Amino acid sequence: MLFLFKVLATINLLKPHSRNIRWGIIGLGRIAHEFAQDLQKVPNCSLYAVASRSQEKADDFGALYGAQQAYGSYELLMQDDAIDAIYIATPHVFHKEHTIQCLNHKKPVLCEKPFAMNVEEVSEMIACAQQNEVLLMEALWTAFLPHFQHVLRFIKSRELGDLRQLSAGFSFAPQLDFEDRVLKKELGGGAVLDIGIYPVYAALASLGLPDSLEAKANFFHNGADSDCMMVFHYPKATANLSCSLIHHEKTEAKFLFEKGQILIHSMFHKPNRITIRSNGKEETLDFGVATLGYSFEIDHFNQLIREGLLESDVMTHQFSLNLIRVLDAIRKEIGLSYE
Ligand SMILES: NC(=O)c1ccc[n+]([C@@H]2O[C@H](COP(=O)([O-])OP(=O)(O)OC[C@H]3O[C@@H](n4cnc5c(N)ncnc54)[C@H](OP(=O)(O)O)[C@@H]3O)[C@@H](O)[C@H]2O)c1
Repeated sequence: MLFLFKVLATINLLKPHSRNIRWGIIGLGRIAHEFAQDLQKVPNCSLYAVASRSQEKADDFGALYGAQQAYGSYELLMQDDAIDAIYIATPHVFHKEHTIQCLNHKKPVLCEKPFAMNVEEVSEMIACAQQNEVLLMEALWTAFLPHFQHVLRFIKSRELGDLRQLSAGFSFAPQLDFEDRVLKKELGGGAVLDIGIYPVYAALASLGLPDSLEAKANFFHNGADSDCMMVFHYPKATANLSCSLIHHEKTEAKFLFEKGQILIHSMFHKPNRITIRSNGKEETLDFGVATLGYSFEIDHFNQLIREGLLESDVMTHQFSLNLIRVLDAIRKEIGLSYE
């Protein structure tokens, strides 16, 4: 009897709502480090394995964050039966391939944004998850952050009336290294897919799909887009959106309502403060987040696994399809192709 109890406890069958989720990470670059740091702060989960194209890099990363396994091949990590969840942190152009490989190994996947390069790829990933009956979610972390969820609840409550205008931008000026995946066209580099996705996400989450859109962009010598201005038209609202990899400006989101406004301070896509102005009054809310902010999507994903769900109710497959369709439409408008 005691033996059976020990076995059940080891495989976590006794505590379904707190069972430990063992994570694996594929692609050990910048965001993988941030994700691994936050993983350590989320209860009832652990970094079990990491995988890199280089065994040495995997060993170093694994030692830094206390992973039990360090693989010099992504495929070996995908084959490891002890893994409950895989986080894909490779460049955009590999998201589809790596996601489908993991799903075919029956591993739940949390894949970085953009989910893939275009709607055909995202549709294929979702179909594969459904066929395999495995959980799949886009890692658009902003959707899970308390300040952003508060703003969305506020919009839904209509306390300030209808939302009439959104202004949101994301800009930063990195060093112009065209071998870096941010700017390297062959890896999906460029402003719209890397950072423009955040203002586009803000528009879709707050106003829904636009009736029509306009977009204008500038390009680097290698064909990657350096900056882009976008206008989304809705029956009774407009979204003015921008992104830039050459200017360094505030990355704010401002929501103008019939009876007031909400500002998400720079940078709006990260844990942040919001200021609500109405009736001549101003209130600033600080959400006191103690992690980098990735903990919220991790916690959500852990719970989906524990409950045996195949899709998130926050970042649904349909939302990911809408998001990539709009990004495709913007790319078509500015003439940006990755083929
Ligand atoms: N949610 C967020 O806040 C956030 C922030 C930044 C980035 N991202 C997303 O996360 C993904 C990775 O971004 P990152 O900034 O972490 O990129 P990065 O620093 O360049 O790391 C990407 C990793 O992918 C792996 N990789 C596999 N094939 C590669 C190739 N041919 N060239 C380069 N790297 C390759 C490498 O890991 P190994 O050498 O270990 O195999 C590399 O370290 C992107 O899709 C990006 O949009 C999300």
